Amino acid sequence: MEEKQILEGRQGEVLDSKRAEVSSTSKKLYIESYGCQMNFSDSEVVAAIMSKKGYNTTRNIDDADVVLINTCSIRDNAEKRVRNRLTEFKKKKSDNPDMVVGILGCMAERLKKSLLEQEKLVDLVAGPDAYRDLPNLIDEVGTGQRAVNVLLSRDETYADISPVRLDKGGVSAFVTIMRGCDNMCSFCVVPFTRGRERSRDPQTIVQECTELFNNGYREVTLLGQNVDSYRWNITNKGEIKDPNLPTVNFAQLMEMVAKVSPELRVRFSTSHPKDMTDDVLHAMAKYENLCNYIHLPVQSGNSDVLKRMNRGYSREWYLQRIEAIHKIIPDCAISTDVISGFCGETEAEHKDTLSLMDAVKYDFAYMFKYSERPKTLAERKFEDDIPDEVKSNRLSEIIDKQLKFSLASNQKRIGLVEKVLIEGESKRSNEHMCGRTSRNSMVVFPKGNGKKGQYVNVKITDCTSATLIGKEIN
Ligand code: 5AD
Ligand code: SF4
Repeated sequence: MEEKQILEGRQGEVLDSKRAEVSSTSKKLYIESYGCQMNFSDSEVVAAIMSKKGYNTTRNIDDADVVLINTCSIRDNAEKRVRNRLTEFKKKKSDNPDMVVGILGCMAERLKKSLLEQEKLVDLVAGPDAYRDLPNLIDEVGTGQRAVNVLLSRDETYADISPVRLDKGGVSAFVTIMRGCDNMCSFCVVPFTRGRERSRDPQTIVQECTELFNNGYREVTLLGQNVDSYRWNITNKGEIKDPNLPTVNFAQLMEMVAKVSPELRVRFSTSHPKDMTDDVLHAMAKYENLCNYIHLPVQSGNSDVLKRMNRGYSREWYLQRIEAIHKIIPDCAISTDVISGFCGETEAEHKDTLSLMDAVKYDFAYMFKYSERPKTLAERKFEDDIPDEVKSNRLSEIIDKQLKFSLASNQKRIGLVEKVLIEGESKRSNEHMCGRTSRNSMVVFPKGNGKKGQYVNVKITDCTSATLIGKEIN
């Protein structure tokens, strides 16, 4: 179970495919999301675009006029899951031929017309930058055509759209601050499916966070594929990245969001080790509500592998970044992403990943087997030559190690009093509440005075590798 928790939840894994709220008006939209947090956030933008056209969301697929599936291409198994789901939708459509089935997100971008024309699995295909066009595409389907828009944009950020939150009464929300990625890590399909990097107007970000706070939310996670390269030109509104013009960078943006309210926790994902500045760390140290948690994907602990991955940093550079975090934010939790069995990875290179894990002692990690993706630099340049069994064995060694560090990290909190933002009842027991610490650890404790959305002090008395256990104190 713990293994599953660690393995699931990053890009490509089905989190908890969120289904939208029930409502009673005429046209109904059912939307399911897979993959990364960005997809969940995008589905909320899609719900907003569709609500303007009179669609309300439903949790019951059998009530839906339009069914949309927001997809992920990051690993092959993520695509397989979506294909299985599409086959199920196709069966539903045979009972209800008027139902429109559409595919959104990275698979839409990657597979374009083949899902429509060759495989005939869907009526509609919309890539990540084409969501404003969805109402038109649905109209086209209504006239008997199969509709597709997979144009990538250089400037679409959906900045003016106020997302419809799919978990009404929630505590924590995602806020997209930038889209796309210019990094070209050799294993990664994202630059092909999500296009060029562009940043969103900071005023609209602050406005969205303020509205969320006023609606009872107490935590925002600022999302981007590489948040450290967030950059907005004040004078020309972000269209031209001119280094001589006044800009808002990520550290400054974080301060702007931190000032919305000291009661609003701010998180972010994902940082890139080559770009993460000390300014970001100083901002985190300065504001209590900028949470003490950094997700800093390493991918591999060997500099040659990192070079083949085109990550733009070495093992030594990465370890210096970790040192900077410890120095500037002493109680900061750190998590990472690791890939096992990348092209040409030798046993010694794999051991370097294990030794880097020993050096860093991550609080948490998401760990994956390398999965070759079409069109990527790695697919074109290198052979996917590590046998699956070797990839799996190496992954097991990585997971075993991480479980020990996760447990040790949690054990260190026993006896401490943690400030916990309550997210609601525990999933496993209605006599317990659950919530997170600033360091992003999940805490479970018996119901006391604290309600959902409130901060309480919890004394930690016990733990597993995944959860802290405690009791509320005054
Ligand atoms: N194979 C395995 N893992 C991958 N990731 C990205 N692309 C691949 C791939 N082709 C992982 C990386 C990244 C995370 C979101 O997914 O670790 O940080
Ligand atoms: Fe992919 Fe690298 Fe961009 Fe992350 S930074 S989305 S791993 S290309």
